[in-house]
Amino acid sequence: MDKERLLFKLNWFYSFELNQVDLYTSQSSSTKDDYISLAFERIAYIEQQHVDNIADNIKELGGKPTMLGDMIAPIVGKTVGKILGLSGIENLLKINILLEQKAMQDYKDLIHAIRGRCDDKVVKILQSNLIDEDLHAAWFHNQLLELKE
Ligand SMILES: [Fe+2]
Ligand SMILES: [Fe+2]
Repeated sequence: MDKERLLFKLNWFYSFELNQVDLYTSQSSSTKDDYISLAFERIAYIEQQHVDNIADNIKELGGKPTMLGDMIAPIVGKTVGKILGLSGIENLLKINILLEQKAMQDYKDLIHAIRGRCDDKVVKILQSNLIDEDLHAAWFHNQLLELKE
Protein backbone atom coordinates (compact mmCIF):
# COMPACT_ATOMS: atom_id res chain seq x y z
CA MET A 1 0.00 0.00 0.00
CA ASP A 2 1.52 3.35 -0.98
CA LYS A 3 1.60 6.29 1.42
CA GLU A 4 -1.17 8.15 -0.42
CA ARG A 5 -3.53 5.18 -0.05
CA LEU A 6 -2.60 4.67 3.62
CA LEU A 7 -3.25 8.35 4.33
CA PHE A 8 -6.66 8.07 2.66
CA LYS A 9 -7.50 5.02 4.80
CA LEU A 10 -6.36 6.77 7.97
CA ASN A 11 -8.47 9.80 7.08
CA TRP A 12 -11.43 7.46 6.62
CA PHE A 13 -10.91 6.21 10.19
CA TYR A 14 -10.32 9.75 11.42
CA SER A 15 -13.71 10.82 9.99
CA PHE A 16 -15.51 7.71 11.19
CA GLU A 17 -14.14 8.04 14.73
CA LEU A 18 -15.16 11.73 14.80
CA ASN A 19 -18.67 10.73 13.74
CA GLN A 20 -18.73 8.21 16.57
CA VAL A 21 -17.64 10.80 19.16
CA ASP A 22 -20.60 12.96 18.04
CA LEU A 23 -23.03 10.07 17.98
CA TYR A 24 -22.18 8.63 21.40
CA THR A 25 -22.00 12.08 22.99
CA SER A 26 -25.49 12.87 21.65
CA GLN A 27 -26.77 9.47 22.73
CA SER A 28 -25.37 10.10 26.20
CA SER A 29 -27.30 13.36 26.57
CA SER A 30 -30.52 11.93 25.13
CA THR A 31 -30.54 8.74 27.22
CA LYS A 32 -32.55 8.90 30.44
CA ASP A 33 -31.03 5.81 32.04
CA ASP A 34 -28.11 7.17 34.11
CA TYR A 35 -25.92 4.11 33.81
CA ILE A 36 -26.31 3.75 30.03
CA SER A 37 -25.86 7.50 29.61
CA LEU A 38 -22.56 7.37 31.50
CA ALA A 39 -21.44 4.36 29.45
CA PHE A 40 -22.08 6.28 26.21
CA GLU A 41 -20.08 9.19 27.63
CA ARG A 42 -17.16 6.91 28.52
CA ILE A 43 -17.25 5.27 25.10
CA ALA A 44 -17.32 8.70 23.37
CA TYR A 45 -14.22 9.59 25.41
CA ILE A 46 -12.43 6.50 24.12
CA GLU A 47 -13.51 7.27 20.54
CA GLN A 48 -11.96 10.74 21.01
CA GLN A 49 -8.69 9.01 21.92
CA HIS A 50 -8.97 7.11 18.62
CA VAL A 51 -9.54 10.39 16.76
CA ASP A 52 -6.39 11.77 18.41
CA ASN A 53 -4.15 8.76 17.84
CA ILE A 54 -5.20 8.48 14.18
CA ALA A 55 -4.65 12.24 13.72
CA ASP A 56 -1.14 11.92 15.22
CA ASN A 57 -0.42 9.07 12.84
CA ILE A 58 -1.58 11.03 9.83
CA LYS A 59 0.63 13.95 10.85
CA GLU A 60 3.64 11.69 11.42
CA LEU A 61 3.21 10.41 7.87
CA GLY A 62 3.25 14.00 6.62
CA GLY A 63 -0.50 14.26 6.03
CA LYS A 64 -3.19 16.52 7.38
CA PRO A 65 -6.15 15.05 9.30
CA THR A 66 -9.15 15.65 7.06
CA MET A 67 -12.84 15.13 7.74
CA LEU A 68 -14.15 13.28 4.69
CA GLY A 69 -17.83 13.70 5.53
CA ASP A 70 -20.57 11.58 7.07
CA MET A 71 -19.22 8.03 7.32
CA ILE A 72 -22.14 6.67 9.33
CA ALA A 73 -25.02 7.26 6.90
CA PRO A 74 -23.58 4.98 4.18
CA ILE A 75 -23.27 2.16 6.75
CA VAL A 76 -26.65 2.33 8.46
CA GLY A 77 -28.63 4.32 5.90
CA LYS A 78 -29.30 7.02 8.49
CA THR A 79 -27.59 10.22 9.51
CA VAL A 80 -26.67 10.84 13.14
CA GLY A 81 -29.71 13.10 13.61
CA LYS A 82 -32.08 10.40 12.38
CA ILE A 83 -30.44 7.77 14.55
CA LEU A 84 -31.08 9.95 17.60
CA GLY A 85 -34.70 10.32 16.55
CA LEU A 86 -35.18 6.56 16.71
CA SER A 87 -37.26 5.50 19.61
CA GLY A 88 -35.96 2.97 22.06
CA ILE A 89 -32.57 2.25 23.50
CA GLU A 90 -32.59 -1.17 21.81
CA ASN A 91 -32.53 0.43 18.36
CA LEU A 92 -29.61 2.64 19.35
CA LEU A 93 -27.69 -0.33 20.71
CA LYS A 94 -28.30 -2.33 17.52
CA ILE A 95 -27.02 0.51 15.35
CA ASN A 96 -24.02 0.97 17.63
CA ILE A 97 -23.17 -2.73 17.32
CA LEU A 98 -23.35 -2.44 13.53
CA LEU A 99 -21.01 0.56 13.57
CA GLU A 100 -18.52 -1.12 15.90
CA GLN A 101 -18.53 -4.23 13.72
CA LYS A 102 -17.86 -2.11 10.64
CA ALA A 103 -14.97 -0.37 12.44
CA MET A 104 -13.56 -3.72 13.54
CA GLN A 105 -13.73 -5.18 10.05
CA ASP A 106 -12.02 -2.15 8.55
CA TYR A 107 -9.30 -2.08 11.22
CA LYS A 108 -8.68 -5.79 10.62
CA ASP A 109 -8.46 -5.26 6.84
CA LEU A 110 -6.01 -2.38 7.17
CA ILE A 111 -3.86 -4.21 9.74
CA HIS A 112 -3.74 -7.21 7.39
CA ALA A 113 -2.80 -5.01 4.43
CA ILE A 114 0.08 -3.16 6.13
CA ARG A 115 1.49 -5.59 8.69
CA GLY A 116 5.20 -6.18 8.02
CA ARG A 117 5.21 -3.45 5.38
CA CYS A 118 4.76 -0.48 7.61
CA ASP A 119 5.99 1.05 10.85
CA ASP A 120 5.09 -1.31 13.72
CA LYS A 121 3.87 1.69 15.68
CA VAL A 122 1.06 2.31 13.18
CA VAL A 123 0.00 -1.34 13.36
CA LYS A 124 0.05 -1.27 17.18
CA ILE A 125 -2.24 1.77 17.28
CA LEU A 126 -4.70 0.19 14.85
CA GLN A 127 -4.71 -3.00 16.91
CA SER A 128 -5.29 -1.09 20.14
CA ASN A 129 -8.24 0.73 18.60
CA LEU A 130 -9.59 -2.59 17.30
CA ILE A 131 -9.54 -4.03 20.83
CA ASP A 132 -11.48 -1.01 22.14
CA GLU A 133 -14.11 -1.43 19.41
CA ASP A 134 -14.37 -5.12 20.29
CA LEU A 135 -15.03 -4.16 23.93
CA HIS A 136 -17.62 -1.55 22.90
CA ALA A 137 -19.48 -4.03 20.71
CA ALA A 138 -19.44 -6.55 23.59
CA TRP A 139 -20.82 -3.98 26.05
CA PHE A 140 -23.61 -2.93 23.66
CA HIS A 141 -24.45 -6.55 23.02
CA ASN A 142 -24.53 -7.37 26.73
CA GLN A 143 -26.74 -4.40 27.44
CA LEU A 144 -29.12 -5.49 24.69
CA LEU A 145 -29.39 -8.95 26.29
CA GLU A 146 -30.01 -7.43 29.72
CA LEU A 147 -32.85 -5.25 28.36
CA LYS A 148 -34.48 -8.29 26.82
CA GLU A 149 -34.54 -10.20 30.11
FE1 LIG B 1 -13.11 4.00 17.74
FE1 LIG C 1 -15.94 2.00 19.40
